[in-house]
Amino acid sequence: MDSFVIRGGRSLHGTVEISGAKNAALPIFCVSLLAEGVHFFRNVPRLNDIDTIVELVRYLGAEVEGEAPVLRVATDRLHRFDAPYEHVKKMRASVLALGPLLARFGEARVSLPGGCAIGARPIDQHLKGFEALGAQVTIEHGYVVAKAQRLRGAEIVFDLPTVGGTENIMMAAALADGRTTLLNCAREPEVEELARVLNKMGANVVGAGTDTIHIEGVREMRPVDHAIIPDRIEAGTYMVAAAITGGDVLLHNCRLDHMESVAAKLVQAGASVTAEGQGVRVRAKAPFRACDATTMPYPGFPTDMQAQFMVLMCLAKGESVITETVFENRFMHVPELARMGADIEIRGRAAVVRGVPKLSAATVMCSDLRASAALAIAGLVAEGETRLLRVYHIDRGYEDIVAKLAGLGADVERVRGDA
Ligand code: EPU
Repeated sequence: MDSFVIRGGRSLHGTVEISGAKNAALPIFCVSLLAEGVHFFRNVPRLNDIDTIVELVRYLGAEVEGEAPVLRVATDRLHRFDAPYEHVKKMRASVLALGPLLARFGEARVSLPGGCAIGARPIDQHLKGFEALGAQVTIEHGYVVAKAQRLRGAEIVFDLPTVGGTENIMMAAALADGRTTLLNCAREPEVEELARVLNKMGANVVGAGTDTIHIEGVREMRPVDHAIIPDRIEAGTYMVAAAITGGDVLLHNCRLDHMESVAAKLVQAGASVTAEGQGVRVRAKAPFRACDATTMPYPGFPTDMQAQFMVLMCLAKGESVITETVFENRFMHVPELARMGADIEIRGRAAVVRGVPKLSAATVMCSDLRASAALAIAGLVAEGETRLLRVYHIDRGYEDIVAKLAGLGADVERVRGDA
């Protein structure tokens, strides 16, 4: 297994290119299943999670050609309607195939994902939505089996705003008979992006980005050529890295309007964040102010930035309380940060962080994608040589992170295998 070796102490300077958004790209590969023909996706990030979704659509019969950032997906020979356990256990987002397969073929069989490192992550809201659209949903041998001659529009109120649930039902409803109204929807930019793609394909979706979405079903959709929005979480991660190292970094190709809550927290902590051309510039100098943060659905502070921001608070002056409300087990980075000298106490859903003057390098273990990004950031400022193990977690969601950090002046390298 590969690891990263990071020698801390360099501040980051220069420009970094932000890649296409992983969490926008994954549903977009699934949406291609809704229409027969040849799709082109641009600005696709080169990531292990993208390889996994490509494997899945290939398994279903799609032909995928090209290489990130441009992929051609031909969906006229789909011949399977199932997502096997092997795919779904690798990546939960595979459940997003359920809605499109059910809507287009009247049948889908997708493995239940089970829990994951950050929480139980049920998909009850997805299933409730399919049932409301008239599907018969059963659980058989660990699989969700959904069937419907034809889906019909309905009014669905989500119990909580779920990104994947909103996306899955939106895709299914696009080909249903009649009008669907979704209430208490997730408002993430990735949901809005999916609606944009659906509409380019001939669907009729209004209101995405708000908590109420209306979908007028259509009989047929057409293939699409679409460039994916920039990754706001990758961008946020580099923003924290720039700030904590006392750097001056221009993030090229990213959207400040998708990152207001993260930018606001960085400014509160003492960094400067400004829109500049096609990007965002972050400048900072220690000392940082301690500030509290609570994760919330968009436009609140993203759970996907909680771990990274916590590292900044580890070095801030004073005490901050970071509360995680979206996932029940998303503090896996805390014991590893403690091994690097951080002072953090977990109290239920909150982490009380008392700033320390410095972190010290250690060998640490990555547990999930964002926790790993946080440990990499900690390595950038820790005294000495940090070794990050199990970096396959990072490879799922950060394109070329070693090259990008090195390009900004960090002393970081990937060590192959068990070397
Ligand atoms: N939930 C339910 N029932 C459901 C669906 C969700 O109780 O049917 C709960 C979840 O357990 C969680 C909360 O609702 O407590 C929010 O989950 P959501 O469905 O919004 O998350 P997701 O769609 O599974 C996406 C991202 C995650 C990101 C979350 C929250 C993708 C592929 N994944 O997951 O990204 O953390 O939204 O913003 O879009 C990551 O990139 O590292 C990552 C984990």
